[in-house]
Amino acid sequence: MSECRPADPAGIAFAAGLLRRGGLVAFPTETVYGLGALATHDAAIARVFEAKGRPAVNPLILHVATTAAGKEFAVFDDRAEALAAAFWPGPLTLILPLRAAAGISPRAVAGLDTVAVRVPGHAVAQALLAQAGGPVAAPSANRSGRVSPTTAAHVLADLEGRIDLVLDDGPVRIGVESTVLDLSRPGPVGLLRPGGLTRAAIEAVVGSLDGPAAAPDEPVRSPGLLLRHYAPRTPLRLGATDVAPDEALLAFGPAPPGGAVATRNLSASADLAEAAHNLYAMLRELDAAGARRIAVMELPGTGLGEALADRLRRAAETPAQ
Ligand code: TXA
Ligand code: MG
Repeated sequence: MSECRPADPAGIAFAAGLLRRGGLVAFPTETVYGLGALATHDAAIARVFEAKGRPAVNPLILHVATTAAGKEFAVFDDRAEALAAAFWPGPLTLILPLRAAAGISPRAVAGLDTVAVRVPGHAVAQALLAQAGGPVAAPSANRSGRVSPTTAAHVLADLEGRIDLVLDDGPVRIGVESTVLDLSRPGPVGLLRPGGLTRAAIEAVVGSLDGPAAAPDEPVRSPGLLLRHYAPRTPLRLGATDVAPDEALLAFGPAPPGGAVATRNLSASADLAEAAHNLYAMLRELDAAGARRIAVMELPGTGLGEALADRLRRAAETPAQ
């Protein structure tokens, strides 16, 4: 059994106690719900990989309440300092060199000499991290490869019985994961995963980003990006302008085509923030509609649309046989 408690001060204090003892606690952030475990507690980290069915090669993001706490286990250069000052707390993750002697479980970073750091902009996450007694590793609180959770009910739908507690704070604000930037080596900053913080906002601070994902001849820079991800069970068809009678429709904008098994509109007013907020919940709902396929209308690829397009593309990828 996994417990579910409201994210009030008593619930948060209880959750922090669980984390300190090596427990697994799902908690809200401004992006999606995370599955937290103390990053220095090797056995707890092993349970995170087991609960999610996550491949051991895919490292976790370490969450801290302040930039100062991040500096205890990660090395910040000038670019990292500037980005942290501009955007933390917020939906941004920085890949930085790991301090080897900092006591982080090697499992949490998948044996790498780099580490992903994030200071979430959410009052519950902040309070929990301040009381947890160390950095908290927290992947999204879903089974590996599936759609990320934006409510406590989504967390339990995937992880009931596999975790100790979920702190319920209702739906999250943003609805897609943090933007992940590679600062592990000198030179231009790399965009590993578009997310809740837009490219334009980041480029205003550090200049032009190189594109998402590594070039094919480069070594893999973010193992998680190789995998089919964010995927419902029903296959997806992208760029739909019409819909078949046995399809469900994920619409965008004021005039979606009619005749689908079920329709959800990400934003009738074509607002990308509203679309991000709705994306994962609507994918879950349409996945349950019993359709042969989910047809997805085209979204603009700018601003938050870059993250939305990335998630939909990964969700539509054919599973490896
Ligand atoms: O918004 C978010 O980032 C959420 C909330 C809970 O904070 N967390 C999240 O974690 O999305 P996760 O594990 O689902 O995605 C983390 C991504 C993965 O693609 C992983 O491969 C990458 O970050 N990552 C983590 N550590 C890395 C490292 N040292 N080098 C390269 N990529 C890394
Ligand atoms: Mg995830």
